[in-house]
Amino acid sequence: MAKESITLIDNRTGKSYEIAISYGIYPLDGAAIRASDLRQVKVSEDDFGLMSYDPAFMNTASCQSTITFIDGDKGILRYRGYPIEELAEKSTYLETAYLVLYGELPTKAQLEKWTHDITWHTMIHENIKKFMDGFHYDAHPMGMLVSTVAALSTFYLDAKHIFDAGSRKTQTHRLVGKMPTLAAFAYRHSLGRPYAYPDNDLSYTGNFLNMLFKMTEVKYKPNAILEKALDVLFILHADHEQNCGTNAMRCVGSSQADPYCAVAAAAAALYGPLHGGANEAVLRMLGEIGSKGKVPEFVKKVKAGEGKLMGFGHRVYKNYDPRAKIIKRVADEVFEVTGRNPLLDIAIELERIALEDEYFIKRKLYPNVDFYSGIIYQAMGFPVEMFPVLFAIPRTSGWIAQWEELLLDAEQKISRPRQVYLGQDTRSYVGIEQRETGKTGQTSPKGVA
Ligand code: CMC
Repeated sequence: MAKESITLIDNRTGKSYEIAISYGIYPLDGAAIRASDLRQVKVSEDDFGLMSYDPAFMNTASCQSTITFIDGDKGILRYRGYPIEELAEKSTYLETAYLVLYGELPTKAQLEKWTHDITWHTMIHENIKKFMDGFHYDAHPMGMLVSTVAALSTFYLDAKHIFDAGSRKTQTHRLVGKMPTLAAFAYRHSLGRPYAYPDNDLSYTGNFLNMLFKMTEVKYKPNAILEKALDVLFILHADHEQNCGTNAMRCVGSSQADPYCAVAAAAAALYGPLHGGANEAVLRMLGEIGSKGKVPEFVKKVKAGEGKLMGFGHRVYKNYDPRAKIIKRVADEVFEVTGRNPLLDIAIELERIALEDEYFIKRKLYPNVDFYSGIIYQAMGFPVEMFPVLFAIPRTSGWIAQWEELLLDAEQKISRPRQVYLGQDTRSYVGIEQRETGKTGQTSPKGVA
C-alpha cells in the first residue's frame, strides 16, 4: 500500500526526509504537510531550517476547521455540511447563525431561546449614542461601525474572560444582537436623523429595517418581501472560511484580545475594496460605465490593466460563486417591489461580455457575491456607503464561530508568521557628516526564486 508521506531530497546536502501527509475529509482537496516539518531540512546544525515562503497565504492552511466547506473549482459552499442553496431557500438568518456557531440546526425550543437571547441584546448603552454623535456628519458608516464595535469592549469588561464559556456566550448574544443597531445608528447619524430604537416584536432583518427607515409612524411595518430578501442575503454572508476578515479575527483573537476588539479588526479588514468593500466599488464602477453600450470599451480598459472588473474574481472560486447565483434570483423578487434598478442591465451585459472573453476565461474570473448584491441593496434604498456594513452584520456570526474554534483548538498559538529577510547585513553607524546620498553600501538581495 502507498505510504501517506512524501520524500524530500535536499540537493544541497543529498539528505532525504520523509514528511507525513495529513488529510481533510476530502483527501484530494485537503492533503497537507506540516510546514514545521520542513524545519528539519538543514545544511548545518546552526541552520534555522527550511521555511515555506507564501505571501498572501496562497497555499497555506492556517487551521483545521469544521465550519464552512468551499470547493472553489466546483462552486460549492456549505455551512456545517448544509449546501448554501438549501439554507437560502429554507432557513432564516438567525437559524443559520446558530448552525454556524454551534454546529447543528437548532430544535424549535433552542431556536426560540436563541431568538429571544439575541433580541434581548439589541439595545445599546446610551453612552454609545453620545460617542456616535462625535463623528463628523459625513463619516463613512463602516468606519463608525468598526470604531463603535471596538468601543463595546469598554462597556463589557467581562468580555476579556475569553476562556469562560458563559462569558463567550453572552458576548456572542451581544455582538449578534447589537451589530444591526450600531449599523443603523451609524446610518441615521449620517443623515442627521434621530436614532430609531430596536423593536423586539420584529424579526432580525425586520427590526434592522425599522431602525434604518422608521420615520414618524408609531409602528414600522417592514415590507415582507424586502425583509425576506435581506434575510437571504444575510444567510449568504454568514461565513466564508479563511478569508481576509476571518483571518484578521483569528489573528487578533490569537493574542487573546476580547471579541469586540477582534470583531473590530475583522470588520476593518472587510472594509477594503478587494474584500467586503467590493460591492460598493461595483456600484461606483457600474455608475461610471453609465450605459450598456459603453461596456465593451470598459472591458477593453480592464484587459489593458487599467483597473479591475470589480465583483469579479475570487481567491478560492474558479467557477461561478454559488452565492452570486442565488443573489441574481433574489434580485428579481426585490425588483418586483422596488422597480428594476437600471444598473442591472449594465451588470448583465458586463457579465455576458466578460464570460465570453478569453482574458476572463483563461483566468477563471466569474462574478462573485459582490457583483449583484449592491444592485439589490441600492434598489432597497441603501446608500452605497452602507454596503460593506450590510456584509459585516451577518458575517459577525461566522467571525465568532471561527474565533471560538480557534480558542478551543489546543494546537493554536499566537499568530506570528516568519519572514525572509532581504535587508542590509550588519553595518556600522555612519556619522551625519560622513553620509553621502545614494551611497548606502547595500548589496543586492538574493530573494526567493
Ligand atoms: N478584474 C480583472 N482582472 C482580474 C480580476 C478582476 N476583478 N481579478 C483578478 N484578475 C486577474 C489578475 O490581474 C491576475 O492576472 P495576471 O495573471 O495576468 O496577473 C489574475 O486575474 C489572477 O488574479 P490575482 O490577483 O492573482 O487573484 P487573487 O486571488 O490574488 O485576488 C481578488 C482575488 C478577489 C482580490 C481579485 O479577483 C479582485 O481584486 N477582484 C475584484 C475585487 C472583488 O470583487 N472582491 C470581492 C471578492 S468576493 C467577496 C469577499 O471576499 O469579500
